[in-house]
Amino acid sequence: MNVPLYEKIWMWAAGGIIAAFIAIVLVTGVGGALQPPSHVETIDPTQVFKDPRFAHPAVTVDANGATVVAFGMMYGFTPAEIRVPAGKRVTFRMTSTDVTHGFLIVGTNANTMLVPGYVSQFTTVFQRPGEYLIVCNEYCGLGHHLMSAKLIVEEAKP
Ligand code: CUA
Repeated sequence: MNVPLYEKIWMWAAGGIIAAFIAIVLVTGVGGALQPPSHVETIDPTQVFKDPRFAHPAVTVDANGATVVAFGMMYGFTPAEIRVPAGKRVTFRMTSTDVTHGFLIVGTNANTMLVPGYVSQFTTVFQRPGEYLIVCNEYCGLGHHLMSAKLIVEEAKP
């Protein structure tokens, strides 16, 4: 079959774009260590404050790392300031008391949805000490843009 040069150029260009898309998915997914959620745990969203799992939102630090219990509600996170040790495994356990919120720690691979009725759980390690911004990245209402918190990664004590 005799394909004109011009057609050939566009065929290769289209193929190149597809290859670029696949490369972007692989680089961001594998390189950024993105993982699909694997933890399924339910909770009554109207009883979050009374539920023993979430009655005392706080950070618990032990020899193995830290566990963060937190929740999102219009329009903030509790606790609003989270302190965790650097270089240790940190497990987040979170939920929402009202609508779906997002939980993104800017500059890290920590990013999950807080869906009412479910407990979102993931474990990550923060290597670099410092202050990180936590934002809600799911539109949740008029105060969505005000919904933020702070993560402080502290240098591990020798
Ligand atoms: Cu909470 Cu947007």
